[in-house]
Amino acid sequence: MGKLSEVRIIKTPVLNDRRGNLSFLESRQQVPFDIKRIYYLYDVPSTLTRGGHAHYNLQQVIMAISGSFDIILDDGFNSQRIHLNSPNTCLVLPTMIWRELDNFSLGAVCLVLASEYYSAADYIRNYSDFIGLVNPSKDKVA
Ligand code: TYD
Repeated sequence: MGKLSEVRIIKTPVLNDRRGNLSFLESRQQVPFDIKRIYYLYDVPSTLTRGGHAHYNLQQVIMAISGSFDIILDDGFNSQRIHLNSPNTCLVLPTMIWRELDNFSLGAVCLVLASEYYSAADYIRNYSDFIGLVNPSKDKVA
């Protein structure tokens, strides 16, 4: 069936003392791939949506390093809305998951750890194309 079952939510290790918290992620440890790229979204208006695509080959770890936002995941069979609001909670996304991000709080920062360098060719930006690839029978019914 769909790949939503491969999505993982992981907690980062936290070192806490009177000076505050320190948290970390390492390639091939908490992150199941070698990190080739880091990017972040910030100053996203609360009324607007980011994402709206899937990736052929890219795996990602996504977290709300500050503030909160929602991520809607769709594998062509099922969809799920997840609220991210902690710098200790990470979403581990496999390839071929359609995602949209919305409901950004004021000051929210979405940090993304990526398994590949940026490649425009890796994007599937048309939802019908995505469904055609992951669940073609749904495409015919729709
Ligand atoms: P996009 O991935 O569509 O943003 P989002 O999914 O958050 O809405 O990227 C927006 C633009 O930024 C697009 O022109 C590609 C460019 N971009 C890079 O040049 N490098 C990157 O690492 C990323 C993620 C995007």
